[in-house]
Amino acid sequence: MCGIIGITGAQSVASQLLEALSLLEYRGYDSAGIAVVEKESGSIFRLRAAEQGGSLHHLIGSLGKADTSRFEYCAGIGHTRWATHGAPTTVNAHPHFDCGSSIAVVHNGIIENHHQLASDLRARGHVFSSETDTEVIAHLLEEETADGRTMKDAVVSLLTTLRGAFALACIHKDFPETIYAARRTSPLVIGMADSSCLLASDVAALVETTRNLFELGDDQVAEVTPIGFKVYDQLGVEMTPKPIKVGWSIEAARKGGFADYMSKEINEQQVAVAETILGRLNESGDSELEELEIDEASLSKVEKVLLVACGSSYHAALVGRHAIEAWAKIPAEVDIASEMRYRPMRIQENTLVIAISQSGETTDTYHALKQARSQGVLTIAMTNVVGSLMSREADGVLYTRAGPEIGVASTKCHLAQLSLLECLAFHLAGAKSALSGSEKAAIAGDIMNLPKLVEKTLARQDQYHKVAERYSEFRDFYYLGRRSGFPIALEGALKLKELAYVRAEAYPAGEMKHGPISLIEPGSIVVVVAKRSSLWEKIMANVEEMKARGATVIAVIDEDDEESASLVDDVLETPAVTEICSPVIGVIPLQTFAYSIAKARGHDVDRPRNLAKVVTVE
Ligand code: G6P
Repeated sequence: MCGIIGITGAQSVASQLLEALSLLEYRGYDSAGIAVVEKESGSIFRLRAAEQGGSLHHLIGSLGKADTSRFEYCAGIGHTRWATHGAPTTVNAHPHFDCGSSIAVVHNGIIENHHQLASDLRARGHVFSSETDTEVIAHLLEEETADGRTMKDAVVSLLTTLRGAFALACIHKDFPETIYAARRTSPLVIGMADSSCLLASDVAALVETTRNLFELGDDQVAEVTPIGFKVYDQLGVEMTPKPIKVGWSIEAARKGGFADYMSKEINEQQVAVAETILGRLNESGDSELEELEIDEASLSKVEKVLLVACGSSYHAALVGRHAIEAWAKIPAEVDIASEMRYRPMRIQENTLVIAISQSGETTDTYHALKQARSQGVLTIAMTNVVGSLMSREADGVLYTRAGPEIGVASTKCHLAQLSLLECLAFHLAGAKSALSGSEKAAIAGDIMNLPKLVEKTLARQDQYHKVAERYSEFRDFYYLGRRSGFPIALEGALKLKELAYVRAEAYPAGEMKHGPISLIEPGSIVVVVAKRSSLWEKIMANVEEMKARGATVIAVIDEDDEESASLVDDVLETPAVTEICSPVIGVIPLQTFAYSIAKARGHDVDRPRNLAKVVTVE
């Protein structure tokens, strides 16, 4: 969940560390810190801050006052934190020191056996200065190197001592140009530039400097110097590093003139959907998913699909279920990853498990995928991050091509997931020969038309903002939908909760009468997905029930649908589209609606409180 950076050999290493951390801040922003070896004094310079929303800014100010010439061209490490063990305070901010401040460590993940390790270390005289699990690493390295063992060997030995998931980087005052790193489960990438070497938890922090990138494998250690790096396995045997290809430009990771990343990313949705669909189907109804590396013969044997995910990806999975059931005509179920992984899994033979995760790193989804795979069923990971954990675990991988998403609340990745799930459902239908030629051509046409409809929907954002302005003071929202409209309602309510910190409940509209309707009273705001479908009359009957109890109703409707407009108080108009494809369009006004309300309430939409972009803890 945290962001890690390491640089050695650069002239202004400290300011480069801070610059790279600004690209990693979306991974956590409870605190930030850097540590750099000072060659001449033989000590480590460290700066840390835990300022709500402003840690990096604070560090930049402090660095401005420091004499940075002392550590030019030396090794440095940096960290941006999302707190797991220990409060978000400066003492808990990384990098952490050993007793003698000779070793500094940054870490992402969780050391599961840190209680035991810390108590053993304390018994042997070590003094801890933080409440973090990370600090044990610094003290363990201190012990390991005390008897003359090399840092490299000491880091290799950590792979045996530490339990849990981690990516770590450390420096030692006596080796001013070397960074040592190790990883298990949490990712770590190494980059080689002209006369410097870098490492980071995410390629986004490195692409500005170099595209010569390599992946550090699971249970591997790296020794990184300005002129190159070496990689070792658990036994200390040298390994060949694996290169990584990245297509992203650094500009894509910047705000591109928008007030915040979220509005930039909402406005990039047409491109995200277009690129995700690109080359995956054509007008005559053929699909092309060769990259999946699972042949049609294997897919034709699939009798059931199980989709698993968290957060917005879970809502995408619910849409995927409808598409699979409607087009491939086989049963599909959806599970929340944190629930699925702790249930005894009894997955039937010939089930296809699809794990959906924009980051490809969410711990619960990763473990659910891993467990499913251990049962011998076919698995697919759907992610936005090339080379991410899940992409390496599954039998097949499909990438959404949304580009980097920095805003914590998912927008363009969610739309890309919806589009890709529709492509996959369609491909599965083809493999199972479940559709006629004309049905295939019609569905392919609907999917291929989505980017245009997304563009038309985005052009209506001013209208959505105006409607939202009227509701920014309210505190009780209910989001209703039926069938494909229900995942839209869930996603709309999640966006409002995440961004505006307002209570928003989503229900299948038909379920309201089984309890929640007793909460409806004058002042309640009901947002209903009422795009035209075979269930339109039923949803309008539910609208009447809400209005009869005094609720104000805002409806997502098809454009120019005057009949729907006349039955509600306010409308969010969107282009008409077939029901299965409707979530791709219907969710957009609700993203904008939540965005506007959050802005009106003065919130930071890119970094909502208590949330993190990548959740690598349970
Ligand atoms: C966090 C993010 C959400 C995201 C969820 C699942 O909660 O804030 O936006 O939907 O994680 O993330 P994933 O990377 O697995 O899609």
